[in-house]
Amino acid sequence: MAENRNNQENDDFREEFGDKLMNHDYDGIKELDNPAPKWIMAIFYVSIVFSLYYFVYYFIMDGPTQDEEYIEVNIEHEKKYNAKGDGEVFVLLTDEASIKEGEILYKEMNCGACHGANGEGNAVGPNLADNAWIHGCDFESVFDVIKNGKSSKGMTAFKNQMPDGKIQKVTSYLLSKLVNSNPENAKESQGEECK
Ligand code: HEC
Repeated sequence: MAENRNNQENDDFREEFGDKLMNHDYDGIKELDNPAPKWIMAIFYVSIVFSLYYFVYYFIMDGPTQDEEYIEVNIEHEKKYNAKGDGEVFVLLTDEASIKEGEILYKEMNCGACHGANGEGNAVGPNLADNAWIHGCDFESVFDVIKNGKSSKGMTAFKNQMPDGKIQKVTSYLLSKLVNSNPENAKESQGEECK
């Protein structure tokens, strides 16, 4: 009886799954041949081939590490967006985009915390919106104060926070927009009036 039922079940099974049924039968447990889809196999083989290339390139031929690649990209970036060499950054930029960027940097770098949102000066830092200067009003002097700071007097050095190209833009903003803009609550002028 049991034998018959088994055979009957086997026949039903065969009908339903046809040629997928493999010749294995372990105590009634059958195995179907269900290969993985071709596209998965394709990805699998491609990744094996890629891993060979990867291994050879990075471990045998000594390809660049992430850090090395990062430095390379950074140098490219500096070349593209910053002034190229000494001296060239001591030039007043007059185009609108640069001045605007300088204004944004003034906000982003929190210059306003010590110089007032509009450069009017406050208890900490001097007025930057007049035309009197403690450290000189020529481009190079202003640039230098921002870059190297005056640590003993409380002015932060920004050389580690802004590359020269950006300091050039902030300086340009100060000298072409902020100077003589006479904001409200201006702190009294310090230093020498610029001629
Ligand atoms: C932590 C406070 C602080 C911050 C932040 C700060 N400054 Fe100053 N800054 C000072 C002080 C204080 C002085 C005056 C230094 C002195 O008397 O020698 C000064 C001086 C200056 C001077 C020279 C002014 C002069 O009369 O010669 C310039 C230019 C200047 N800061 C620009 C900036 C810019 C641009 C930023 C933002 C990128 C900035 N500062 C951020 C405190 C600050």
